[in-house]
Formats: sequence, C-alpha cells, structure tokens
Amino acid sequence: LLRRIPIQSYILVTGGLGFIGSHTTLELLKANYNVIVIDNLSNSFENVFDRISLLAQKFHDENGIQMPTLRLHAHDYRDTSSLRPLLEEYQLPSRWGAPKSKIAGVIHFAAYKAVEESIRHPLKYYANNVSGLIDFASTLGEFGIKTFIFSSSATVYGTLATSGLPLKEELCVHKEEQYIDDVGAVQTIQPGCTGITNPYGRTKWICETILADLAASDPEWTIVALRYFNPVGCDSSGLLGEDPRQAPTNLLPVVVKVMTGQYSELQMFGSDWDTVDGTAVRDFIHVTDLARGHIAALSTANEGKLTENFRTFNLGTGSGNSVLDVVTTMEAVSAKSIPRKAADRRAGDVGSCVAVADRSREELQWKTQKSLKNACEDICNFLEVSGLSS
Ligand code: WQD
Repeated sequence: LLRRIPIQSYILVTGGLGFIGSHTTLELLKANYNVIVIDNLSNSFENVFDRISLLAQKFHDENGIQMPTLRLHAHDYRDTSSLRPLLEEYQLPSRWGAPKSKIAGVIHFAAYKAVEESIRHPLKYYANNVSGLIDFASTLGEFGIKTFIFSSSATVYGTLATSGLPLKEELCVHKEEQYIDDVGAVQTIQPGCTGITNPYGRTKWICETILADLAASDPEWTIVALRYFNPVGCDSSGLLGEDPRQAPTNLLPVVVKVMTGQYSELQMFGSDWDTVDGTAVRDFIHVTDLARGHIAALSTANEGKLTENFRTFNLGTGSGNSVLDVVTTMEAVSAKSIPRKAADRRAGDVGSCVAVADRSREELQWKTQKSLKNACEDICNFLEVSGLSS
C-alpha cells in the first residue's frame, strides 16, 4: 500500500467526507498522497475530517513515515468562486506552456445518490450531478488538472442486470466496441445503455458520456469511471461508519437502524424474486476494498497504463448475496435477532445485480479481499465504538 511518490503531489477529493469519500481519503493518505477534500457537509459531518486525520496519523506513526497533508475546503464543489482561488494555490509556474498543477488527480464523489428521491426531484439531480460536473471539469481543465476518477454506479446496468447477461463493462459503452464471443466470432457493440430505470442512474450514464466525449476531444485528459456495486461495511477502526444525515434507503444502514432500535423492523422488499431464497441478490463490496479500487485506478492512470484515456471499470466482488443472507450474517455476527418482514417490491429494484470484475482485476491489478461477514463485523465494531449498540 505504501507508495513512494513525490510528497508534493496532491489529490483533490470532492465529497471526501461522505461514506465512500471518507474511506477513500483515508486510503489515499495511507498510500502517501496529500489530499484536499471538498465537501459542503450536506450529507456528512465535519468530525469525519478529524477522524480521518487521527487514523492516518496513527498509521504513519506506526510505520515511522511522515504524514502527508490533509486539507478541508468546506464548500460546494459547484461554487466556482471559491474553487478557483483554491486551485490557484496549487498552480505551478508555466509562462508559455499549458497550465500545470501540483494536483495530480481528482476523485469526484460529490453527487446526489438516492434513487427514489431522483424520481421525485429529477431537476435537482440533473443540476447537481450533471451541470455541476460540466462546470467542474471545465474549471479543472483551465488549470491543467486532467486526471479524473469519476464515481459512477452499477445502476447504469439497470434491467440489464436481470437479462441473465454477465454484467461486463461492455454492456454499456460510449463508442462502438468489438469483442470476441465464446465461439471466437468478432461481435460489435453499439454505444448506448438500455436498462436504466431512474433519473439518478441516467445522471451517472450522462456524466460518463460527457466524460467520454471530453477524453475523445483532448488526449491530455485521462478519465476513469468506476461503476460501484453495493458498498457496505466500514473501516475496521470503527471510526468511519456509514452515518448519513438523511434517512437511509440502502439495506445495511437500514439494518443498523433496526439493530439500534431506531426502526422496529426491516422490510425486505420482495420475497418472490427468481433467486435462491426469493429475496433480491446484490454484489455487496466492502467499502475499504472499494476505496482501494480508487487508489489502483489513480495509480494506473497516473502511470499511463490505461488502454484508453477514457475507461470504465466495475468495482464489485463478482459474487452475490441475498438480502436474507445479509440479515442472517449480521444476526450471526452481532448475536442479535433482527426483526424483519417480507414486503412488496420497491419501485426501480431489480432481482439480481452482480458484477463481472475481470477487467478491474486484469487492468487495475485490484480485487476485493474482504467478505460480507467482515463488513458486518466492522459495522458491529462501529456501533460498539460509537456507543450505539444496545
Ligand atoms: C439493496 C437490496 C432492496 C432497503 C442502490 C442504488 C445504487 C447504488 C447502491 C449509488 C435491494 C433491498 C433495501 C430496505 C430492502 N447507489 N432493501 N429493505 O437498490 O441495490 O442500489 O444503492 O450508486 O445506485 O440503486 O441498494 O441497498 O438500496 O438495496 O429489502 O429497507 O436491499 O430492495 O434489493 P440497491 P439498496
């Protein structure tokens, strides 16, 4: 994990205090990057910044190496009037050549991500997720900051997940691609993505398309879109749990609400799916594995090892667990029973969504190392450390 990189280079992380952002910021610091976090605190808490600092300092003390710098810019990433002066601070002198920056890359997490809310408020999602991205990338380009890791989502596969087709990146491409099928014939894939079921997923697909066009227009850009499956768990320290300001809709934070007595029972949306036990199946990936996937993508991009200057990768384990598996695993780990009941399917859901993670393994030299059980153990530890476990 410890990379020997020039300490003067910096990584800019938008949404760096959020669930995935905070874990990635911590892993970046452990990998010896300096980090500048941009976060407007709309769905995160400022004390997360202090906890990341504490954990990173502890890691570097234990390894006897100097702690890189960590800085918080507590503004909205769309506020270019505060973004520009920040980027100015990291400019390198360049009289006639292209602008150069100490910022070696950007990881862009800041976005709205609640599927059901996106159905009720699509314009809010298009403004923040899409218009925000356009202005942000345009400003970065002016400062010569052109290595960009984009937080995308398996939601772009949508109903393709239930087509029985293996969920490979090739199912949703931005330009015509060819591949060799199982019988050795050359197949051509047309650009497009046909399975998206909600505005949130469409914002992610549209952002990927915008970034693919940007990369095609200027070879100076190196852009990676990471399609997350279902991030779960938390750092093993118990200090960086998933603690959204807004009421959770994702499975594990809802299970936590039941475990801590804030909710009386878990509603399992759908018990008649065509799956092993009738409940829906997902690819639950430990958030620390997911964070390390960003480090792998960043170093592959910075070392010029990407096959193209726009590339998508699935970040998943490659295997599925059902909703009921999650409940029984958490019960076994916590020694607590979790009240639940079967309920109707939720709008926009699919029965199964599991990654094919071959491309990430082969091109990023990354694969997951933690299990669903590890994730449940780490959540229980977070509850213990936070004094939330009753
Ligand atoms: C998982 C399974 C639910 C809550 C979403 C977004 C996706 C991505 C990950 C951002 C489903 C079931 C859930 C509950 C339940 N986010 N469930 N009871 O829907 O797979 O993906 O989060 O990129 O964009 O769509 O995740 O955790 O909401 O649901 O039964 O109270 O758990 O029906 O089958 P999902 P989820």
